[in-house]
This record gives sequence, structure tokens and C-alpha cells, in this order.
Amino acid sequence: MKAKPRRLRRSQLAVPGSDAKKLAKAAASDADHVFCDLEDAVAPSAKQQARETSIDALNNLDWGRTVRCVRVNDVGTEWCHEDIITLVEKAGENLDTIMLPKPMNAGDVQFADKLLNQLEKKLGLERRIGLEVLIEEVDAMQNVVEIAGSCERLECMIFGMGDYAASQGIAVRNIGREGGYPGDVFHYPRYQMTIAARVSGLDAVDGPFANFNDEAAYRVECRRALTLGMVGKWAIHPAQIAPALEVFSPSRKDVDFAREIIGAYQKAAAAGLGSVAHRGMMIDAASARLFQNTVDRADLIGM
Ligand code: COA
Ligand code: MG
Repeated sequence: MKAKPRRLRRSQLAVPGSDAKKLAKAAASDADHVFCDLEDAVAPSAKQQARETSIDALNNLDWGRTVRCVRVNDVGTEWCHEDIITLVEKAGENLDTIMLPKPMNAGDVQFADKLLNQLEKKLGLERRIGLEVLIEEVDAMQNVVEIAGSCERLECMIFGMGDYAASQGIAVRNIGREGGYPGDVFHYPRYQMTIAARVSGLDAVDGPFANFNDEAAYRVECRRALTLGMVGKWAIHPAQIAPALEVFSPSRKDVDFAREIIGAYQKAAAAGLGSVAHRGMMIDAASARLFQNTVDRADLIGM
């Protein structure tokens, strides 16, 4: 069994796969992860051209340390198999992950997994291409636990609130934003998906926020996702990259404090104590474990 690669996903930037200019801008951006979109950002008549434009971008742009991903069309369309085959055959060496939208169940993800197995064997690819899935249908939410455990190749689940709202019949006017519901109308699906992701060792990521001029509201959504245990959020415009990077990175102060708590706990444990007071707060094994999450995030970022 190959170990899952650990990748940064604080900001996942969506770029229409048909737009060479935006792809170049995305490659040069600070986003941890960019996905070239062949799905909803591309009109049916432009699907073929978008595939070729994205392949060209993967092969010829300097992506630095950015995770290179392509969102293919879903398994219910006539494009999915060809998207995957063409992409991997022409740009498999320059592709880190494939994002699969609208899976309904584990079988949908396993279709992509098996196709990738065949292609990797045929082409002799050494690096395994990862899979990411969007949880954006009520069926997927119902089956989220089996989807999370569907295959070893899966690395990440994203909550896609636009399609999800449509699928459930939730009445919102602006993608990513609740309207008139007391509390967060997306709290339950976000929570549910994040639990399933954590059980299977996957990254949970929050989907789009359409109003890219409202940074304050975007930050609120980022903090909400972070609090639930998600590791990042989509950006649909370059203006959303910096806020997500900031919110999903612990501050120097947070990291120092986390290390201090863990150190204080270890000292107490060595002295035979299970819980001690530290700066007026009780700390025990659970505190050390909780703050270890902050240290793990900092290590991945390289802080
Ligand atoms: N990736 C890379 N570059 C982007 C970008 C993106 N997602 N969105 C905008 N830009 C670039 C523009 O090309 C422009 O570049 P320039 O200054 O060199 O001309 C600059 O950022 C400012 O863009 P702006 O004029 O504010 O927006 P726009 O009208 O060009 O585009 C959208 C607005 C919404 C069409 C665009 O942000 C977009 O395509 N977003 C992604 C859509 C998508 O992928 N949806 C599917 C997933 S939800
Ligand atoms: Mg969608």
C-alpha cells in the first residue's frame, strides 16, 4: 500500500480549463493548489478545446510547488472517460491529482480509480495520480462514509455547496452564502463530510464563495471551515487566495503556544502527573493531542 502524499490545500484555485491566460496567471499565483476546470466553467461546445488547453498548460507552464489538478466531467457524462484517458496519456507526468465532481457513491469513484490503474500501468508512471472528489449531491452526502473509504488513491473531499444546495432544494441566492436561515444552513453537510474525511485520513476542503469582492464574508466562511477541521477553501478569483492562505495557516504565536502546551504536558507526564495547571488552564493528554494538530499543520507548511 502506497502512503498518501501530504499536500497543502489551504487555497484551491479554480481556473476555467479553456482559458490559457487565466491558467498562466494561476500557475504563477500563490495558491497551494490549482485545478484546471473541464466541468462547469467550460461550455459543452468548448470541452474538447479546454482539454487540450489544460494539457498544454500542465506541460508547458512553470507551476513551482503548486499542486496541479484537473477537474474532469462527472461519470454520468459522455466526456469523463476521455477526459481522464487524454489527460493522463498526454500530461500524466505533470498532473498530481484528478478531481471528480458529482460522485453518487463509492462505485463512481472506483470507476476513476480503475481507469487510472490501467493508465498508470500502460504508461509506466511511477508517481500515483491522486483523486479528489466533490461531495455535492444529496446521494453523495447519504453515502459519504463509503465514498471516503472507496479507494486508497483518494486524498481529499470537497464540500460543493452550489450544486449541493440545488440537489437538496436549499433556497440560497448566492453560491456559498446562506440566506435567512437561522445559523449556518450548510453546517450539517460540512460537519458530516468532515467527519467522514477524518475517519479515512482525507483532507476536507470547503467549496466556492461566489462574491469575490466580499473579502470579509469570505474570511468568515474560511474560519468556519477551519474550526470544523477543514484544511482549506476554494478560491474562484485571485483575490480569494491570500485570505485563505492566512486563515488556514496557524500564526507564529499559535504554533509557539501549541509547542509550549505539548512541552508542559510532556514535562508533567514525565513527573508522573496526568493533568496540570498551565497559565490558569488545565492541560492533559487531550490538550496535547489537540495542539498537536496545530504543530502538524505548521510542519506541513514548513513553519
Ligand atoms: N484564475 C486565474 N486568474 C484569474 C481568475 C482565476 N480563477 N479569475 C480572474 N483571473 C484574472 C483575470 O484574468 C484578470 O487578469 P488580468 O488582470 O491579467 O487581466 C484578473 O485576474 C482580475 O480578474 P477580474 O477582471 O476581476 O475578473 P474576470 O471578470 O476576468 O473573471 C470570473 C471573473 C468569475 C469569470 C473568474 O474569476 C473565473 O473564471 N473564476 C473561476 C470560475 C471557475 O473556475 N468556476 C468553476 C469552479 S466554481
Ligand atoms: Mg459542482
